[in-house]
Amino acid sequence: MLNNLIHKFAYNYIDKMFDRTKYKTVNKIIENTIRKIAGFFKQLDIFNKVIFFYRYFSLLITSIFFAASSQQRPKLLVIAVISGVGISAIILNSLYLCLHLLSVKQKKFTRLLVLIETVGNALILIPSGGLNSPYLWYSLNTVLVTLTFLDLKYCIFNLMIYLIITTKISHVLFNNEQISFWSVLSRNSNLILSFILITVASHLLITLLNKLKEERNKLIKANEELNLANMNLHRAIEYTMSMNRAIHNLVNQRDASMLARLLIEYTLDITKSRKAFFISFLSDLPDYENHEKYKDYESTYNRSIDDGDDVEPSGEGNGKEGAVFLTQACRNSILKQKDKVLNLRVPVNMKINGENLILSEVGSLYQSYGILGIVVKNDVSDVSNILYKELYNQMRLLSELGSIVFERYLLEESNNRLLINDEQNRIANEIHDTVFQRLFSISCAIHKLMQRQDIMQRQNDGIIEIMPDMDIKSELATMKDSVGNAMKELREIVYKLSWRKKGENVFQSDMLRYIDEISKLTGVKISFSLSGDQELLSYDVKRGICRIIRESTGNAIRHGECRNISISINIDDYFTRLEIKDDGKGFEVNKNIHGTGLGLRNMCSLVNSLNGEVNITSQHVKDEKSEKSERGGNDGQGTLIAVILPNNGFKGIFKEVKKGEAV
Ligand SMILES: Nc1ncnc2c1ncn2[C@@H]1O[C@H](COP(=O)(O)OP(=O)(O)OP(=O)(O)O)[C@@H](O)[C@H]1O
Ligand SMILES: [Mg+2]
Repeated sequence: MLNNLIHKFAYNYIDKMFDRTKYKTVNKIIENTIRKIAGFFKQLDIFNKVIFFYRYFSLLITSIFFAASSQQRPKLLVIAVISGVGISAIILNSLYLCLHLLSVKQKKFTRLLVLIETVGNALILIPSGGLNSPYLWYSLNTVLVTLTFLDLKYCIFNLMIYLIITTKISHVLFNNEQISFWSVLSRNSNLILSFILITVASHLLITLLNKLKEERNKLIKANEELNLANMNLHRAIEYTMSMNRAIHNLVNQRDASMLARLLIEYTLDITKSRKAFFISFLSDLPDYENHEKYKDYESTYNRSIDDGDDVEPSGEGNGKEGAVFLTQACRNSILKQKDKVLNLRVPVNMKINGENLILSEVGSLYQSYGILGIVVKNDVSDVSNILYKELYNQMRLLSELGSIVFERYLLEESNNRLLINDEQNRIANEIHDTVFQRLFSISCAIHKLMQRQDIMQRQNDGIIEIMPDMDIKSELATMKDSVGNAMKELREIVYKLSWRKKGENVFQSDMLRYIDEISKLTGVKISFSLSGDQELLSYDVKRGICRIIRESTGNAIRHGECRNISISINIDDYFTRLEIKDDGKGFEVNKNIHGTGLGLRNMCSLVNSLNGEVNITSQHVKDEKSEKSERGGNDGQGTLIAVILPNNGFKGIFKEVKKGEAV
């Protein structure tokens, strides 16, 4: 308020008095003086301001009263007294405030000044009427000053001196009745009492105000601390949220090039640095589209920080938005000193091309993925600096996070490769055991159809006899069904569909349909028997049995050229026994099982995976013999494939079967 008043005075009234344009120098001096006074008042606390104004106020009041009561006094004397007191007021006010503002530790100067003022206050009573002088009350200024800047004891001491001197002056100079000093004292006892009470009351008031001031300061300090704590809390929340975002986004990122970019972005976000970069050591990571711009997955970002003075883009791209710090030269310099960074597990401080960097390795125990770095301001680069310590810890955390996400990414990559491999094997095996067998049967049927036509042509001496329509139609219908089934199976294999997904138990009906279809297509008689509770079979066992039957029947027809096949499945509480017997020409088991074919090997590994045993017995018949007998050379022995599989209720472990070993 006071400052406003001063400014108002300066700009409204002084402007009117002086023409600003004419008296430029004077104007400047006035403006400077006013500014200084305003600045001076700004520094004063409430006590100083009260003291300052009370002195002028009391001077004004007492001077008015003195002038009013001085009709009989010479005018010159009145003017001299008033101006004397006024000048002393200005000097004393300035001196007290200067001493206080300069924080003069030794209070003896103030004490001396107070003592001089006390004596002066007493002496001013001589020309102004002794104890009846209005200036008697002007001396309360001294009381106020003493109580504010000094202590109560000194104040009482001064008051005593003042009262003694004033009483003595009154007794010596204004004692018309010639009464004793003590009588003067007792006559003015009320006055003296008032002085003492005012002093004590002022002391109490000032003490109270000081207490209030102290409390206020404490509150201001507490508020400041609270604000600081609040700020720190906000920063901590922001930091935690950034960290949380970083973890979430980095962990969910499946693109390697984006991993590096995200890592850089979150490094900038969390460390609040101007630039961050990542030098990758991973050569097998895929390039990403902006690889020219962000070569080696390096990227620099200039942050727009509010206090622009702090931001000084450096390096080659000085002053340009998005200037690249990590030039080839910088990269080489860092790589030259990479031993200082790698395997330390903690960030290091380095100066490269005049820039202060904090570098940290991103890597696991056995592999380094790259170096993460930030550019820090010169004033933060001191390791004892608290900001540096914070950056150091943040970089440590970020590089650890980077290590985890890169490690996870690489593990997932190799895992995916393995999964693809597994899936390829699964599809190949299933196609071999299912669709392939069907296609073979279809080709058999086509072959049979063509043979029959040939025979008919020969029998009729060149006269073409057309096969009855009905026969062809039914053969073709069977083939069509089989092709349809093969396509369905193919689809199921590719999309991993299963009976389980169909929601019904189609094990037996599926098997019977398949056998019927193969039998019709190839003309081989196939008998099928199933005993026991199918519910005891797990889904995998059912699938395994289907595949074994398909492969065995396929082999028996294709290689054994058999006429009959019998399939039996016997399920008891603990085991399932599966036997496939054909009357074909047989084969040398030991020789063929390690051949180029997949069927028998697949069968063995399938049974193995189901913890079962497989035994193959075959009576091999020589080729000449087989030629003699015109088909198959079958002497009724053929091949027997016996499989035994544990059911759900069985908890033992089967001995691994030696492939091709006879039962
Ligand atoms: N029931 C069988 N009767 C006669 N020979 C058989 C019989 N089963 C298998 N073989 C012989 O064993 C060999 C190996 O059979 P395997 O099923 O492993 O391979 P493949 O049938 O030749 O080829 P793939 O099954 O991969 O199509 C066959 O080539 C065949 O000579
Ligand atoms: Mg086979």
